[in-house]
Amino acid sequence: MGFVDLLNLFKLPVYALPAVPFALTCVASVALFPLSAHAQGQPTPDATNMDSFVSSLLGKMTLEEKIGQLNLLATGFDVTGPAPSKNVEESVRKGMAGGVFNLYTPSATRKLQDLAITHTRLHIPLLFGYDVIHGHKTTFPIPLGLSCAWNPDLIEKCARIAAIEASADGVNWPFSPMVDIARDPRWGRIAEGAGEDPYLGSLIAKAMVRGYQGDDLARPDSILACVKHFALYGAVEAGRDYNPAEMSRITMYQFYFPPYKAAVEAGAATVMASFNEVDSVPATGNHWLLTDVLRNQWGFHGFVVSDYTAINEMTQHGLGPAERCAEIALKAGLDMDMVSEAYIKYLKKLVSEKKIGEDLIDTACRRVLEAKFKLGLFADPYRGCAPERAEREILTPLNRTFAREAAQRSFVLLKNEQNALPLKRSGAIALIGPLAESRRDLLGSWSAAGNWKLAVNVLDALKESAGPNVKILPARGANLSDDAELLETLNASGAAIVRDPRPPAELIDEAVAVAGKADFVVAVMGESFAMSGEAASRSEIGLPESQLALLKALEKTGKPIVLVLMNGRPMTLGWESAHCAAILETWFGGLEAGHAIADVLFGDYNPSGRLTTTFPRDVGQIPLYYDHKSTGRPYLGNARVKYVSRYLDIANTPLYPFGFGLSYTSFAYSPVKLSHKTLNAAETLTASVEVSNTGQREGEETAQLYITDPVASVTRSVEDLRGFQKITLKPGEKREVKFQITSEDLKFYNSDLVYDWEPGEFIIRIGPDSSQLNSATVRWNKSGAR
Ligand code: NOJ
Repeated sequence: MGFVDLLNLFKLPVYALPAVPFALTCVASVALFPLSAHAQGQPTPDATNMDSFVSSLLGKMTLEEKIGQLNLLATGFDVTGPAPSKNVEESVRKGMAGGVFNLYTPSATRKLQDLAITHTRLHIPLLFGYDVIHGHKTTFPIPLGLSCAWNPDLIEKCARIAAIEASADGVNWPFSPMVDIARDPRWGRIAEGAGEDPYLGSLIAKAMVRGYQGDDLARPDSILACVKHFALYGAVEAGRDYNPAEMSRITMYQFYFPPYKAAVEAGAATVMASFNEVDSVPATGNHWLLTDVLRNQWGFHGFVVSDYTAINEMTQHGLGPAERCAEIALKAGLDMDMVSEAYIKYLKKLVSEKKIGEDLIDTACRRVLEAKFKLGLFADPYRGCAPERAEREILTPLNRTFAREAAQRSFVLLKNEQNALPLKRSGAIALIGPLAESRRDLLGSWSAAGNWKLAVNVLDALKESAGPNVKILPARGANLSDDAELLETLNASGAAIVRDPRPPAELIDEAVAVAGKADFVVAVMGESFAMSGEAASRSEIGLPESQLALLKALEKTGKPIVLVLMNGRPMTLGWESAHCAAILETWFGGLEAGHAIADVLFGDYNPSGRLTTTFPRDVGQIPLYYDHKSTGRPYLGNARVKYVSRYLDIANTPLYPFGFGLSYTSFAYSPVKLSHKTLNAAETLTASVEVSNTGQREGEETAQLYITDPVASVTRSVEDLRGFQKITLKPGEKREVKFQITSEDLKFYNSDLVYDWEPGEFIIRIGPDSSQLNSATVRWNKSGAR
């Protein structure tokens, strides 16, 4: 049992104990830690007296000290915005920072915490924020990939591991989960979220909050979740980052708000406002969003932080000088200023000019102090963070094993003709493509503290797994792109893409010659990690031309091609899907992605991932998503009929629909059986199907439930996901899958933004993905009578 466990056991604050055990824990900083801070008569911070503790502290604070708590500075190890803050240490010493971010390790955080504790008058500890997005040092697959596991428990565990590692490394505030619904794969940050569906997105949002915060924030391995980016950031116009988002309120409530709301309901302690405008007011200064919706409607009690320099950016949006923007933001309900330093510069003046009341500053400061209190920072500003703990709890073999499992489960098999996969462990494999030997790309665009040098690339992992009877013949075949301008841009933001200087034709010839000696080709292709994530929007979302040209040349060899994709967004894969024998989507699978890819290619793991975003055939179809509305003139398949909703040059349908994914076995679904034909309000409907494994090996299926509400007072989606179940079946095995449906599952937002359901017929659909569903119809009455 560790020191902090002991404290928890006896419910004792750190400073209530004699100095000796405290010294044992605080190792280096014991001399600096001012036990006196708490000995000066501040109330004991246990869970019952937060209010009086914070009120008493607030009562002692000067206006400047309160404003200092509202200032968040960027420092340290990463640059995640236009420019880091200046003079961070000095600001901390002067009490002009409530927290810092982009800094970790026990020694670095301890050093700064010591400054805050020893040099400031009231010894208020700092928050340490960091973009722990998909794991801390044990890097899991990018969130979009993880979401394809359709497994909230697995995602919760990833977040828990991230929390343990991050807290051991001095971080107590990850800027995650990112829960923005995204329907536009041009937007690079689609990589950071859970896809396009509000139902699944909400389950994942809750799971991540639980994973980060645990059941008690005061535990030293719990960290404050930060739900972002509130709101609608995933709907930026034309998929261009930071652009405005424009939509009706009913669409916000129905499709975009649910994951944020779910995260708040799960107890998320903090929220980050988004860069974009909402209803023509930047989210950062949007009172309706930050106060009416978030606090008054949803009951959020934590604090709201801006995104990086977003208060100052309101000037650029057109709301006037920075001073005015600070006023607008604070009045809107924005508590903490990330990097703008607009609060530090202007709030005092705004109070003296009576443009804002000091009570607003008190409220914001109280929220920040409460978060610190809940974390237990007043009891132990270091929260048990020490080098030995970091050494013991970060990157453990167990964590890495779990990362491998998470990666396996995130991959989606998009095509597999003539059982091209799994590969046999015999013969010769030509391993081609610019990503086959990359380690850096495996970690994705926001690997933060992850160390790609610890990753094993696909070439080495395949060699390790192949055994003595397989020859692996590598050839690069193409550069990631031949677009010099693009490569320069990516490298300027740290992509470190190394070009093979040989002419493209020479690279292709070499790869074709290698393919000629092999039985089949495994082509590892896609995007550089830097082509998705923040500020990485693309107007074309296919394979870069250099890679497609290589693929076309390889196809001419007649050897079957297994395309292994790495990318951070849905891609357009028209040619690839027509000509490759198999396609495995692996996203950016994290630290253990190389091994996991080998596991799946050789069949040691049978792929089970399902898409959480639609793959369009062409960029021109975007936005394309499964829960769209019907038009008054739907296209019913006859291309000669005019005046219907269709393109002249491409199908309306996606290339790969939401929910889609193959397995090395196959599954069949029986018709849907319903327990009732008619129900009244309080009754529960049981909908069931029999799922059979019709293939040759054991596999995991994700049976998906969708509901259609064909007649309502407002138009509804053609179908909405309302449940799913994962089942594992042996070859020939059948299982009945049952879904319990109540009127809660029928609810939607009406024109008055009231969340309710309306009686009538409903179509219950069950199947393997959003486009292959068996259905049955039921009538649901509002009254008790049938
Ligand atoms: C900007 C990003 O939008 C946000 O997601 C991130 O947390 C902050 N920078 C801090 O790095």
